[in-house]
Parts: sequence; structure tokens; C-alpha cells
Amino acid sequence: MAKIQVAVLGATGMIGQRFVQLLEDHPWFEIGGLYASERSEGKRLGDVLKVKDVQFMQDTLDRKIEQLEPKAIAKRCRVAFSGLPTDVAKDTESALADAGCAVFSNAASHRMRPDVPLLIPEVNPEHLDLIKVQSTYKDGGFIVTNANCSTTGLAVPLKAIYEAYGLDLVCVSTYQAVSGAGYPGVPSLDILGNVVPFIKNEEEKMEEEIHKMLGKKTSKGVKFAEFDMVASCARVPVIDGHTESAAMRLGKDASVEAIVKKLRAFKPAPQKLELPTAPVRPIIVRDEADRPQPLCDVYAGEPARARGMAVTVGRVRQSGKYTKMWVLSHNTIRGGAGGSVINAELAKAKKLL
Ligand SMILES: NC(=O)c1ccc[n+]([C@@H]2O[C@H](COP(=O)([O-])OP(=O)(O)OC[C@H]3O[C@@H](n4cnc5c(N)ncnc54)[C@H](OP(=O)(O)O)[C@@H]3O)[C@@H](O)[C@H]2O)c1
Repeated sequence: MAKIQVAVLGATGMIGQRFVQLLEDHPWFEIGGLYASERSEGKRLGDVLKVKDVQFMQDTLDRKIEQLEPKAIAKRCRVAFSGLPTDVAKDTESALADAGCAVFSNAASHRMRPDVPLLIPEVNPEHLDLIKVQSTYKDGGFIVTNANCSTTGLAVPLKAIYEAYGLDLVCVSTYQAVSGAGYPGVPSLDILGNVVPFIKNEEEKMEEEIHKMLGKKTSKGVKFAEFDMVASCARVPVIDGHTESAAMRLGKDASVEAIVKKLRAFKPAPQKLELPTAPVRPIIVRDEADRPQPLCDVYAGEPARARGMAVTVGRVRQSGKYTKMWVLSHNTIRGGAGGSVINAELAKAKKLL
């Protein structure tokens, strides 16, 4: 069967190059073109490498970056994976969907639109059907978004807990990697040996997006989940991997043992459908007192093509009426490009591509 041709938008950036990593030998998708701004037009990918922990194939390194022209892309590619900055993404992604592309985006521009799925297949696969409400686009075009990188890591274990026990309150503090700020990101003199307790708009995005993802799909949009969510976000000198400390008040009582059992047994749609980039275990619960840690756990996930797609949870414990846990996920894979790739895999499995 012929592979589906896909475009990578923002191919000179952190997310774009994670897309290239995940798509190089994908069983269903084939890279049809790499796109970025006119500043990068004509450059070899190998000359603008930002992701440095991957050995790309020589043919991939020799591919040239092209200028982003929506109509031309739509003629060549059924799917566009977007790693564009939010301000550029808004109109560009709409133009691509209008030209008939299925757009899977990392950018925030369309996330909170009622007719756009804010999708994590492990959390809310049924929200994908919202694309049928996107009647404005022609020729099979649509937009699907994935959540902010810190929201994604938390949303997966929260879903397992929410469906079993309900939630009244979630308080989360994040310790976010520098790669989350894109390339070149935070100046080294601002972050080395330091913690920066501010990431623009991050707390607002976390507090808003989680309610959409854990909400119920209706005929016109999503009825948001109703629980209190309070986020505090900081940048720390870690290259990849967002670590988060969450304290939750559950809707009903549950022991630590019961919660851990639910997290370990969590087997949602992508695992049942055996999507190519789905980790066998979406949540890995560590028993050690000092895990998860970015250095040890950021690449959690099996098989090989799902490395970095599992969320690691540790130190599940209780203080009075609060249940607490630590969570770690790879921000540019699980919380970024990998999130969009698995969204597209779900769409393909549901015959929407
Ligand atoms: N980093 C993360 O952990 C993370 C996680 C989830 C979501 N996101 C979101 O994903 C998106 C990309 O993030 P990133 O970290 O990869 O950023 P980045 O490293 O700064 O890369 C941005 C990319 O967009 C391209 N670009 C900029 N202006 C353009 C224009 N006018 N036309 C066409 N291409 C243009 C850049 O190309 P040039 O090199 O040619 O300028 C580059 O390829 C953002 O919306 C971000 O919020 C990031």
C-alpha cells in the first residue's frame, strides 16, 4: 500500500526536526517536503540541525528546505504536520486546511476553537469526530491540534484517575526543559545554574486546555470538565523533559495502591488499536523513591519507535485528603511532534485520511 505523503512545517525548528525523526521510516507516512520560512529556503536539513541526539539518514540530511506555499503543499501532500510559531500558524494552517490538507498542529492558535479537536488519543479519542463540524474547509481539509507540552504529560495520568475517581482539584508545579522554548530558546546566561519562575502564557494554557481535553464531546463542541486547576510553571536547566509535581483532591476516596493499579492498567484506544507510535504502556509507574528524573526517564516507551512517548509517574502518595504524584514526559516528542504523529495515526485508523 502506498504511503501517505506528508509535509513538515517548521522543519528547521525543535518540533519540526522531531517530526522528521519520527517520520523518517514511518510505516504509513512518507515525508513529501520540508518547509520553513524564506530565511531557510534552499538550505540542506543537515546544515540547520537543531535536534542533536538523533542520527538522521544521509538522504534525510540532504533534503532541501522549501518555502511554505499552502496551495503547492496541498497538491503534493495529504497531511501537514505543523511546528510553526503560533502567530504564523493561525492563517497558514487555515489556508492549508482550505486547500484540502489534514493539518496536525503543535501550535496554540486553533486549540480552543469549539470545532477543533484538542487531541491526545490516550485521553479523548472521541473528540477527533469534531472535524466533521469543521464545515468551513473544502476537499477533506481539517485541523487537529495537540495540547501544550506540559499539559500533555499531566493529562495522560489525570485521565486514568479522573475516569476512575473523578477530580475536585488539581494543583500542579512544573519544572520545564529549555527545549520547550524552541531554538535557540532561553539565553544560557539566564538559565544555567538558575530557575526562572515564569513562562509566558503557560499557566493559563495548562489551566484551560485540561478542561477541554477531559470534557465531553457534544454535537457542536465540547462541554468542559468541571474541577479546579491551578498551575505554577518554571523553566529549569534541563535539555529535554518536563517534570511536574501534582497534588489532587479526588472525587471519591481511593488508596495509593488502588490508584497505582489503575495507572498501570490504563490501556486506552491507541494501545488497543496498536497504532505504530503508541507505547505498549502509556503510563509507567516507578517504585523508586527518587524517580522520575529527566536523565533516566525522558525516553520511556517501547517499542523503539515509541521511545519518548510514555509518561512516567512516581512517588504516588497521600497527605490528608490530597493525593500527590510526580510526572515526567518528553516535551518535544510526547508533548510535541509525537503527539501530532499519533493523532494522525488515529485519523488514519479511523479512515479519515
Ligand atoms: N518546543 C516544545 O517543547 C513545544 C512543545 C509543544 C508545542 N510547541 C509549539 O510548536 C511550535 C514550534 O515550536 P518549536 O519549539 O519547534 O519552535 P522553533 O524551534 O522556534 O521553530 C520554529 C519553526 O518555524 C519556522 N518559521 C518561523 N517563522 C516562519 C514563517 N513566517 N514562515 C514559515 N516558517 C516559519 C522556523 O523556520 P526558520 O528557521 O526558517 O525561521 C522554524 O522552522 C510552536 O507553536 C510551539 O509553541 C513546542
